[in-house]
Amino acid sequence: MISHVLPTYNRAPLAFERGEGVWAIATDGTRYLDLGAGIAVNVLGHANPELVATLTEQAGKIWHVSNLYQIPEQEKLADMLVEHSFADTVFFTNSGTEAAELAIKMVRKYWDHAGQPERIEILTFEGAFHGRSTGAIAAAGSEKMVAGFGPLMPGFRQLPWGDIDALKAAISETTAAVMIEPVQGEGGIRPIADEDLRLIRELCDQTGALLVLDEVQCGMGRTGRLFAHEYAGIAPDIMMVAKGIGGGFPLGAVLATEKAASPMSAGTHGSTYGGNPLACAVGTKVMEIVADEAFLAEVNRKSALMRQKLEGLVASHPSVFESVRGQGLMLGLKCKVSPADLVRAGYEQHILTVPAADHTLRLLPPLNISDDEIAEAVARLDRAAGMVDA
Ligand SMILES: Cc1ncc(COP(=O)(O)O)c(C=O)c1O
Repeated sequence: MISHVLPTYNRAPLAFERGEGVWAIATDGTRYLDLGAGIAVNVLGHANPELVATLTEQAGKIWHVSNLYQIPEQEKLADMLVEHSFADTVFFTNSGTEAAELAIKMVRKYWDHAGQPERIEILTFEGAFHGRSTGAIAAAGSEKMVAGFGPLMPGFRQLPWGDIDALKAAISETTAAVMIEPVQGEGGIRPIADEDLRLIRELCDQTGALLVLDEVQCGMGRTGRLFAHEYAGIAPDIMMVAKGIGGGFPLGAVLATEKAASPMSAGTHGSTYGGNPLACAVGTKVMEIVADEAFLAEVNRKSALMRQKLEGLVASHPSVFESVRGQGLMLGLKCKVSPADLVRAGYEQHILTVPAADHTLRLLPPLNISDDEIAEAVARLDRAAGMVDA
């Protein structure tokens, strides 16, 4: 008999009832060091006192207001995002998938408005993940995600990951957009080189194609900059964010330039919940903390510390690990064994990690993890690797 919860996940036999910072506390009281952070979501840890205070204060005022009215909390967060990014305008969603859907619609509307409605092809990359809606699975195109869900939405072509020659051959004056994650998350913590991202921007400029960046996983301070593309010194036309922006409260956003977004006039898009006062109050507090240069400098310092320790881990388990990769606190251990085995061994050592494609184990801790917790995490990973090695 089918379970009452639709069984689309292979869930571990673990349930958590509380959290404190980097720690997730299971129903049996066991404390797990959480290096998954809800898959890059809890950027400020569990039950962060500032976020709890913000949420409860807002909950006592007003939870939900329709987008038929002005929403001051939404305007405040939009102002902050515009101030700290390339963007001129923001639309709020409840998730990364919804942000991807709007980004795709925005691209189509842009070319329709420009008198080229046939210009719909969006170039994407193998290993990409943009969500599970019909549009987002068509964009990513992986067999695993699309099987059985056809016919797929037309207008996407996948290129080999990071293959600039393939992009040069594919892009033309009929390309609508290029859509890419600056650091692939589900694809296995694979950063695109800064010079390649700059080249992609140039190719878009030469052909007129829009550049759409998916920073749902790598954005919001995760890489040590507020947004990962800042390392390359370029700006996209459209960007999706989600996950970290709500610190655990469901929130996403599409950020765009005026040029890309201006055809999205009243009535062209909408959402009941997107940008409601509760979500935006929390998002504003997250931005106040994460967009601070001193906070981002700490993320980079901790990243260097964690990488150094992880290099040591790789060296002491050469038959388990191949290398460390990633940026900031979006780190991956390329494995010689199945990452799922390491995740399971981690449960026994009371540490939570997340598997990814390309034989990678993802480490995505809260960005305010302490130095001691980093040391403790690597010690637990060491014991987990020892179990798999044996
Ligand atoms: C890069 C990227 N884009 C989009 C999504 C979809 O976001 P959500 O699960 O919030 O719909 C994810 C989720 O993992 C992601 O990593």
